[in-house]
Amino acid sequence: MTALDEVKIGGLGASRLRVEDQRFVRGRGTYLDDIKLPGMLYMEIVRSPLAHARITRIDTSKAWQIPGVRLVLTGEMMAQRNLAWMPTLSYDTQAVLATDKVRFQGQEVVVVVADDPYIAKDGCDAVEIDYEPLPAIVNPEQSAAPGAPIIRDDKPGQTDNTCYRWEVGDREATERAFAEADVVSSLKLHYPRSHPSPIECCGAVADFDAGTGKLTVYMTTQAPHIVRAAVALIAELPEHQIRIVSPDIGGGFGNKVPVYPGYVHAILASILTGRPVKWIEDKTGNLISTGFGRDMYLDAQMALRRDGKILAVRMHADTDQGAFFADAQPSKFKVGLLHSAFACYDIGIGYITAQGHYTNKAPGGVAYRCSFRVTEAMFFQERMMQAAATDLGMDQAEFRRINLRRDVAFPARTPFGFLVDSGQYHKCLQVGLDAIGYDEFRREQAAAREKGRLLGIGISTMTEPLGAGNSREYDILGIKMFDSAELRVHLTGKAILRTGARTQGQGHETTWAQIVAHELGIPADDVVVEEGDTDTAPYGMGTYASRSTPVAGAAVSMAARKVRAKARKIAAHLLEVSEEDVEWELGRFYVRGAPERGASIQECAMAAYSNMPDGMEPGLEATAYYDPPNLTWPFACYIVTVEVDPETGVWDVLRVVAVDDCGVRINPMIVEGQIMGGLTEAYAMASMQFQTYDADGNMIGANYMDYLLPTAWETPGFELHEVVTPCPHHPIGAKGVGECAAVGGPAAFVNAVIDAIGDAGVRNIDMPLLPDRVWTALQTRQSVS
Ligand code: CDP
Repeated sequence: MTALDEVKIGGLGASRLRVEDQRFVRGRGTYLDDIKLPGMLYMEIVRSPLAHARITRIDTSKAWQIPGVRLVLTGEMMAQRNLAWMPTLSYDTQAVLATDKVRFQGQEVVVVVADDPYIAKDGCDAVEIDYEPLPAIVNPEQSAAPGAPIIRDDKPGQTDNTCYRWEVGDREATERAFAEADVVSSLKLHYPRSHPSPIECCGAVADFDAGTGKLTVYMTTQAPHIVRAAVALIAELPEHQIRIVSPDIGGGFGNKVPVYPGYVHAILASILTGRPVKWIEDKTGNLISTGFGRDMYLDAQMALRRDGKILAVRMHADTDQGAFFADAQPSKFKVGLLHSAFACYDIGIGYITAQGHYTNKAPGGVAYRCSFRVTEAMFFQERMMQAAATDLGMDQAEFRRINLRRDVAFPARTPFGFLVDSGQYHKCLQVGLDAIGYDEFRREQAAAREKGRLLGIGISTMTEPLGAGNSREYDILGIKMFDSAELRVHLTGKAILRTGARTQGQGHETTWAQIVAHELGIPADDVVVEEGDTDTAPYGMGTYASRSTPVAGAAVSMAARKVRAKARKIAAHLLEVSEEDVEWELGRFYVRGAPERGASIQECAMAAYSNMPDGMEPGLEATAYYDPPNLTWPFACYIVTVEVDPETGVWDVLRVVAVDDCGVRINPMIVEGQIMGGLTEAYAMASMQFQTYDADGNMIGANYMDYLLPTAWETPGFELHEVVTPCPHHPIGAKGVGECAAVGGPAAFVNAVIDAIGDAGVRNIDMPLLPDRVWTALQTRQSVS
């Protein structure tokens, strides 16, 4: 017998082509808009043109008169059913349809349901609404100003615009460390509001069957079971009569985690009309009303010893939450995992405070390709590292070397309570420095500067916590953050695997089968993966924040191991030896000492249905629920070189080097794709992508002429490298990877531009680094030098 070649059967380490692409490249995916049910009606939303205004009149009579209009829903009608407001996943409330006031531009005010989408649009145009404008609040400073109008006057006891306050760390010890510091470095930053902007917008097809009482909702959700729980709790429908189906999803990036009012409208409309109702946002609707990311102001200081040792960090964050606190994050920490900042550095002391502010902007602060504010944390961390090294007059790489945790220093507790458990941070940094040719570049940079050319190099090193959660600290609506997998091996040895996660392009259909191949030796091509239907999938908390591999992926391993344990008993029966005498190699059991006597996993599967031992239950299947003991801690080092044009402020990327340690790679090709996607988003955030508002609360960035996404034309090339430190507690040693480059990348780009122009006093330019901002900073530099 020759042992199976794991890579050949598509196990761990195989760069297996994505099986889902078979249907996607042929145009055979089933996205929400592909779903057409008999008798289906179409829904459109009338949105507020104003950011803050009292509603004085709503007249829907003309809309009702349009032939083909079947239903016009107002906030008043929702209120009669106790549905005008709904709870958010962050324990706030959110208007489903406005009754008293509108609180952001784009807020949902009236819903029209009609025979086709065009009639529904005409119906929207026929609705008359009078508003009495109120002053708009568009940033935390205005929100906290004395006498500012109270946005959430609907909330009993709300006397100002504070959404939350939060703190962590040891304030007194931090003050003492700052008093003893040789140097105190400070930095203020704004991480601008950006939008995940999936290519497919949010939407739902709600289908209530009055005959059976069953509600089926097809929707673009990253977390179908959470939605089922929310519908059961909000609409008080029996949970077993609710089926949420998440079909193929055209990108999520955190935008499709929250429960949006549109879903509730569509469900109620289907119940009231007795017909299926389809709602799909247009692009502007998606950009102005659904979960944005970031919009955080940071003010921080670092206490330093002259030799480069960081003694303590202190920071304050102001988050602009918009009109409703709906950031849909599963921790008990109000500002998500912001306090994971500085986890890769050996810093003993720190103190963080945060305050959330209501403003007249769309609600959100979602984990846009990020683990709940980790992007802001890592951006701030790496910008602060650069400022501190500059203040000390120390080399950027050397300053990191002095402070990065050593390989022997694990596990280690950060001053904010996280347990970092593994990593080779110094090696990762060195691989990056060697790849970019750090010393050589510094020489080139100095020579270029003599000739008036501005070259810069930016480093970003970071570890981040991926894979919420452990159930002690992470839950949504009280439901713990575990995940699940169910594996059924059929009698011919082919298998079906279902998980509680939901892929939105990450390739789970490919990689989960690879984990089964690794555990059982069943070729990955013989395993079909299904996700996203709450009637069939085991209960899970969905896919966001790169949690799938750390949690659902681990559950896949554990389910396969349960199957293997049962198959071992069957093998012992087939081989007529005791179980203790049975050994395992990939795909096959054999008799200890007589390796030629064996039974393949496929033979065991057949026997599980046709020749099982006496007293054994037939069948070969298992379910596993996995509650991770800790988060996983991938590490990365991103290094970018740029050239800035001193005349125009335009900057070009010269090279991007990425070194990622995501533990064991299931599918190296998919991992590389994830890293390239993340780096592209990092480049977008650093160079062009943001949403802003004018003084009246009008959103700038409501379409793709104003909200820029990089195309293949602008996006630089990426040079990828790897270091592998297996995760000590994950069954196959894997860590999450999907978001790492989007989280750690932006600081590398910004640090590079600041490095190019910062020699005379430019400490910061807020993202995106548009040429005019860089040019303005260059003027400061020239006037200083
Ligand atoms: O939760 P999400 O799927 O967005 O993120 P992830 O767990 O980081 O996984 C993204 C994709 O990369 C999935 O297809 C994973 O199976 C794959 N991956 C991998 O092949 N090896 C790893 N160590 C981590 C992720």
